[in-house]
Amino acid sequence: MKRIGILTGGGDAPGLNAAIRAVVKTSLGIFDNQVFGIRNGYQGLMEDEGVYPLDYQAVRGILPQGGTILGAASRGNPFAMDVNLGDEMVTKDVSDDVVQRIEELRLDSVIAIGGDGTLGIARDLIAKGAPIIGIPKTIDNDVNGTEMTIGFDTAVGMATDALDRLHTTAQAHHRVMVLELMGRHAGFIALMAGVSGGADVILIPEIPFKFEVVCQKIEARVKRGTHFSLLSVSEGAFPEGGGAIYQDGDADGAPKLGGVGDQVSKRVSEGCGVESRVTVLGHLQRGGSPSAYDRWLASRFGTIAAQLAEEGRVGRMVALRSGQVTHVDLIKTLQASKQVEVEGAGVQTARGLGICMGDRYDYHREVEE
Ligand code: F6P
Repeated sequence: MKRIGILTGGGDAPGLNAAIRAVVKTSLGIFDNQVFGIRNGYQGLMEDEGVYPLDYQAVRGILPQGGTILGAASRGNPFAMDVNLGDEMVTKDVSDDVVQRIEELRLDSVIAIGGDGTLGIARDLIAKGAPIIGIPKTIDNDVNGTEMTIGFDTAVGMATDALDRLHTTAQAHHRVMVLELMGRHAGFIALMAGVSGGADVILIPEIPFKFEVVCQKIEARVKRGTHFSLLSVSEGAFPEGGGAIYQDGDADGAPKLGGVGDQVSKRVSEGCGVESRVTVLGHLQRGGSPSAYDRWLASRFGTIAAQLAEEGRVGRMVALRSGQVTHVDLIKTLQASKQVEVEGAGVQTARGLGICMGDRYDYHREVEE
């Protein structure tokens, strides 16, 4: 009987509970292994009450639930963890303690469900001998080596619904509506939702934009008698020659993206003389019930991870490649991150539809005639 730990790290994403449930059900029901939940990411490994057994009862009814029953921690990197030393908080590298604790707990493997942050930490812990298996999740879809991450589909659905709703009010009021979307330094959400929600302009971090080009597009629509426009803007998008726009840091001083939607909206009002409003969709993209696809993907990822744990194949990350669930070498895969391909099919699709990507104004018969 194998002892398997499981944790969720980084920002939550819809579908985490479905993945936990799949790991528990497959491990207990098929392989007769034991599963232990680790609370709040890697942090639980350093706490007395941080690791506890998960049984069927613990995962009953969680399939449609957002969030994570294990708790998540955006911070909590064992290589720079905040620890309480008497009355003083200090930042310490506790990675060796974490590896040792996994040994003390006699865990044959730890399944880490995370984005590039959590899986990047997994990569460095594996290099120190920790027996980790990765499952990729993040609404941003920016984990290298997999076509899809858990949570992305739900976030795109939310963003598309928001664009649909903004469309009707934009049309009614003859306004420009700017929707700022998450994604950090990858524009997958803004691109896919922008195409699916009929945006006229999509701005993503991979393609620096020019305000004049955005205005050119809006003005061309006004000229042909369409007095509203929809803009799908990734939070990490930035103007040519500039850099990503940040808000004040959070309590830990960690930088937080945000504000580009507001800037674009202001410049559009001033530059093209069209009334403009901005909506920041924010954490609505991460909360709530996962889509059917995310439940399906999470269940498939969880089942394969449980199988890898049974076979003792640590150091692997489950992945979707050419539509098939498989697994890849985690250390090698997590050397790089993933972004939208500037000349890839997604961007080509957008340009084909006459959507302006902010870098250049392309002739499109529909707008010009
Ligand atoms: O990585 C997921 C994500 O939701 C990003 O899209 C976003 O920039 C970030 O997390 C927000 O993090 P926090 O929850 O710390 O505000």
